[in-house]
Amino acid sequence: MSDFVTTQRHVVTLANGDRVPALGQGTWYLGDSRSTHDREAQALRAGVASGMTLIDTAEMYGNGRSERLVGDALDGVAVAGGQLREADGTRAKTLDRDELFIVSKVLPSNAGEPDIFDSCDETLENLGVDYLDLYLLHWRGMVPLAETVACMEELIAEGKIRAWGVSNFDTDDMEDLWRVPGGQNCQVNQVLYHPGSRGIEFDLLPWMRDHGVALMAYCPLAQAGTLRGRLFRSPELAEVARRHNVTVPQVILAWDIRGGDTIAIPRSSRPEHTLENAAADAIELTEDDLALISRAFPAPSYKVPLDME
Ligand SMILES: NC(=O)c1ccc[n+]([C@@H]2O[C@H](COP(=O)([O-])OP(=O)(O)OC[C@H]3O[C@@H](n4cnc5c(N)ncnc54)[C@H](OP(=O)(O)O)[C@@H]3O)[C@@H](O)[C@H]2O)c1
Repeated sequence: MSDFVTTQRHVVTLANGDRVPALGQGTWYLGDSRSTHDREAQALRAGVASGMTLIDTAEMYGNGRSERLVGDALDGVAVAGGQLREADGTRAKTLDRDELFIVSKVLPSNAGEPDIFDSCDETLENLGVDYLDLYLLHWRGMVPLAETVACMEELIAEGKIRAWGVSNFDTDDMEDLWRVPGGQNCQVNQVLYHPGSRGIEFDLLPWMRDHGVALMAYCPLAQAGTLRGRLFRSPELAEVARRHNVTVPQVILAWDIRGGDTIAIPRSSRPEHTLENAAADAIELTEDDLALISRAFPAPSYKVPLDME
């Protein structure tokens, strides 16, 4: 068991005993452009310095460019005794590798023998670390689950990953996984979740709670598009924000992690947004707040297919 928490109050305990901050950082689309590289790295460092020491990335994101950005951002941190410095050179905090919780994902097409071992090595090299804290199967593909699970367990035995999980698995996928030898070692299912997309509350989330699988909520700020517009312009969310003297994105993040077993991984390319997101950790929504949000954005009372965008 390890405790990765720095300053955040809301933590999630995984089935293996690891305690991680409920608010982490996503990296999709980060690292794609040289012109925004330094600002994005600074945003990630600001997040880490504010306690968002869990970082989610994937081999798919920019073909390894997001992983390399994370490696650049944490350069000097991801070694024992390394110093975390802000872009202006001030010393923000001293962090050891074991105080960071680094998550990456293998593409389904690489999730079997022998490709997963090469993928994992490349991910470690991109990130500049010796091991991952969590390695996720990005989504279910053609490789049999039993093969992927056996490979994940081998990677643990080799010391290259500490734990593994899945992403974009619906209830029937989780049931299949549970029938595979070793499948019950899955720590996390990373799926889309925010107030405008609550389908998982019908059966997947209860199943995960019954089986000790933590939820890692992706697109916790609804990423983009009309749904995001509806959330960001919602009078109900604005009212809750007014009550707590915070912003609407902060209310959304506080809502995402309200269950105590949910990790949310907002992505930002801007230090000011990252700091705003980290500060959502201080918010405790009341029953009245939750009821108001549920009236505007109710959970469905029937099964809906897993949302992925
Ligand atoms: N497993 C999967 O299949 C899967 C799929 C999607 C995502 N993910 C993971 O989940 C992470 C989060 O999802 P996401 O990146 O799709 O979307 P998201 O975190 O819901 O939203 C990101 C957008 O929100 C903006 N933003 C962030 N903080 C803000 C704030 N305080 N105020 C206003 N705008 C803010 C960002 O813009 P700025 O850069 O301008 O701040 C960006 O445009 C990803 O980065 C990735 O790591 C996983």
